[in-house]
Parts: sequence; C-alpha cells; structure tokens
Amino acid sequence: MAGTLFRTKSIDALLADSESAAEGGLKRTLGSFALVALGIGAIIGAGLFVRTAAAIAERAGPSVVYSFILAGIGCAFAGLCYAEFASIIPIAGSAYTYSYVTMGELIAWIIGWDLVLEYAVGAATVAIAWSEYFNKVLEYVGLHIPYEWCHSPFETMVGSPGVHGIVNIPAIAILFLMSALLVRGTQESAFVNNLIVITKVAIVVMVIAIGWGFINPANHTPFIPAATTYTTHEGITHAYGGFMGIVGAAGVVFFAFIGFDAVSTAAQEAKNPSRDMPIGILGSLVVCTILYVLFSYVLSGVATVEDFRTFGKEASVTFAIQKYMTGYAWLGKFVTVAILAGFSSVILVMLLGQSRVFYSMSRDGLVPKVFSELHPRFKTPWKANMLFFVFTAIFGGFIPGDIVGEMTSIGTLFAFMLVCAGVWMLRVKRPELPRAFRVKAVPVVCTLGILTCGLMIFGLGLPNWIRLGVWLAIGLVFYFSYGKSHSKLEKSGSLR
Ligand code: ALA
Repeated sequence: MAGTLFRTKSIDALLADSESAAEGGLKRTLGSFALVALGIGAIIGAGLFVRTAAAIAERAGPSVVYSFILAGIGCAFAGLCYAEFASIIPIAGSAYTYSYVTMGELIAWIIGWDLVLEYAVGAATVAIAWSEYFNKVLEYVGLHIPYEWCHSPFETMVGSPGVHGIVNIPAIAILFLMSALLVRGTQESAFVNNLIVITKVAIVVMVIAIGWGFINPANHTPFIPAATTYTTHEGITHAYGGFMGIVGAAGVVFFAFIGFDAVSTAAQEAKNPSRDMPIGILGSLVVCTILYVLFSYVLSGVATVEDFRTFGKEASVTFAIQKYMTGYAWLGKFVTVAILAGFSSVILVMLLGQSRVFYSMSRDGLVPKVFSELHPRFKTPWKANMLFFVFTAIFGGFIPGDIVGEMTSIGTLFAFMLVCAGVWMLRVKRPELPRAFRVKAVPVVCTLGILTCGLMIFGLGLPNWIRLGVWLAIGLVFYFSYGKSHSKLEKSGSLR
C-alpha cells in the first residue's frame, strides 16, 4: 500500500513525454522576454491594488512594508527552488510535476489539488478585485451597479448594514471573457499580455513617484502599531499590529507575489526551457519585489488605516488618489482603467496555469481525460478551460474577496513548502541529473524557504488553517475514489 502511494513517475519517462507532447500537443512559442512578461503579467494585480489595503486595515497598518519584505524573502527562496526544478523538468504542470518525480504520487496529488487554490481560487479573487475597479469606471461615466449585484451574499455595505450582496456579476463576466480568450490560444494571449504588462508597470511607478509627495508622516506614526486585535465586517478577528500583525499581513500580501511560479507551468510552451525558465521566474520576482515595497510605503502614507477599514476598502488605490492626491484626478482615472486590463492579464495567466496543471494530471490519469482533450484547431485544453470557468465563477460570484484571497495565499504557501522540500530530496536522490540552474547551499535555502512560508501560514490564523484542511480532505476523497485506480502508473505497474 505505502509503495503505491509513494510511487514516483520516472524523470526519464517524463522528459520523453515532454518531447512527444511538444510534437503532437502544445506549441513552443515563448522566449525568455515573453516569460518574464508572463511572470509580471501574473504577478502585479489584486495583491497590490486590493489586498495591500486589506492587510493595512486588518493586520499591520504601515508595517505592511515589512510584510512585503518578509513575503518577498519567502518567495525568493521558493523561487530559486522553482527555477532549479523548472530547469531539470521543463514540463507543464509546475509544482505538481516536480513532486511526482520526487515525493511520489500521493504528495503530487496533494500539490495538484492544492494548486487549485492558487490558480483557480486565485483567479476568482482577482475577478472580485476587477469588479471593484470596474464599478469605479462606471462611476466615471455616471453609471452604477447596485451593491447586491456586485457583491457576495456574505457581504454588507459599509454604512448601510441592511444592504447585502446577492451575486458578483462583473466578477463572473470577466472570468468568462478570459476563459474564452484562453480557448483561442496562448500565442495571441501572450501578445496582449505584453502590452498590458508595460501599462501595469507604468501605473505602479507613477503612483509611487507622484504619491511620494503626498505622504503624510502622521499616517506612518507609529510605523508598527501596538499589538492588539481587529474584527472584520464579516466578524473574523485577526491579530493587528506588533510582530503577529506583520506576519499575518505577510500571509495576506503574499498573494501579490503569486504568479512567478505560473511561468513554470508554461515550460512546455517555452522555446528553450532550461535557460528561459530561471530567467522568467527570478527576473519577474525581483522587479516586482522592489516595486511592492515602495508602493506599500506610499499607499500606507497617503491614506489612513481607518480609510481602508471603511469607504476606502474597495478599489483602495483609486480611493486614496481621489481623496488625498489633489490635482491628480486624471491619475485616479488612468489607474482605474489600466488596472482593469492589468487584472485581466492576471486572471488569464492563473486560468492558464490551472488548466495546464490539470492537463498534466489528466495525462497521468489522476483526473479524468476531459482535462487533457485539446481543441482540434487551437490546440488548447478548451474543455478544461470551460469547466474551470464554472468553478471559478462559483467562488468569484458568491464568496467574499477576503476569504478567497487568504485561501489562495495559504494554499500556495503550502505548495511552496513542498517544492522547497522536493528540490532538496531530488538533489539527494538524483545528484547526477543535469541542472541548467543550480540552487547554491541547497539545505540552507530549502530550510529557510520552508520556515518562512510556514511562518506566513502560521500568521494567517485558525480559520485559514481549517479551510486548507477541509480542501485537502476533499482532495483525498477524490484521490482514493478515482485518481489512485486510474493512475497511468497503476496501469503500467511501474513502481520505482
Ligand atoms: N499576484 C497576483 C495578484 O496580485 C495573483 O493579483
């Protein structure tokens, strides 16, 4: 029994698979610039423009700046591990594939299932953020979606406790549009993505440069608030201020870094994976970390914590510009419109990552074949795209952004910990494998990666631990009732 659960897929078989997939399956069209762009396209989004304000309001105040540094450090360790893995195993599927060859089928299943939190639930989170900024755009042209139709049933309006949401229709609409675009194929999507990335970086830089002059030192005093607690509008109590505030906020804003690993899910579409993957992953991570630290310093200096707890809770960056940055109304409008495009590109990459992970799992027999059936002309896993549209629409339409955002963070942190462990294990088990990119001091980097990510999981608190546990338990039921018996390894009997 234990032998079956820990059976591993052989790396050599995997690489052969990738060759044949390259011939008959996904097209190899992405170079290293396109991959960095894909990374930045996936990275800068709702984490910065929505979750930062939530972290300031509910957890850390201005000390969110330190949270970004902590989260960035955790990602750097995990990013190095991802880069090494991606350079050995340039195959679609990300952490899932890596763990299949190192830690065996059960852990691979757990990661693959867990990645649904990162990619699909993450896409839903960004779609909810998209809906907030979309409402702002409508305001500019004198239109307005009633609160009920752009919020989940679990949310009530700030200042009007009698008004609550029913379904978030704009979130569902954008998820549908992006799913449809993916069905058409990644080449076109990568082109659109490049344009969006340039715009996105430009607005972040502009907010930093212009906003710097509007920082009110009073908002930065004290920089680390005294340790206490804060209860959200949904009735959830978090540690606020002090060390635990910083750690909890790091778990929240960690969301803003998610995406650099999505680059690895496109390995099968990279022209020269062993060189381009590490560049794509680490390059995009470095650029974003620098921007985030500066941006969060500015945002927490321009507006107050109370703003972000009340009327600035939604579309927070636009709110801060409109309220405090006199003379820059145009910037507010520009940011609002541009970020809609920016969020769309994030949703696109996350949905792409999700369909690719299930594509790999389906080719391995762990999930039904429908997830790897390619469109005859577009060569995309279109049925998977459509099924995941339905799944993400349920989360985006009916669950509050705070909850799906934190679920995404905790799920991804857990996957990162397993990736860090996996790189180390593979060094021990298969030291001879060629590695185009090698992590220096593997035991140290992997241990620090596991500890930093573990600390952020700890900071996210009990409700999130329970959600992760429930999600993983559901996954195990699926594995034992379907995946284990349909696994290709089960059929071929190839135990290693
Ligand atoms: N990092 C991505 C974002 O912040 C997921 O939207």
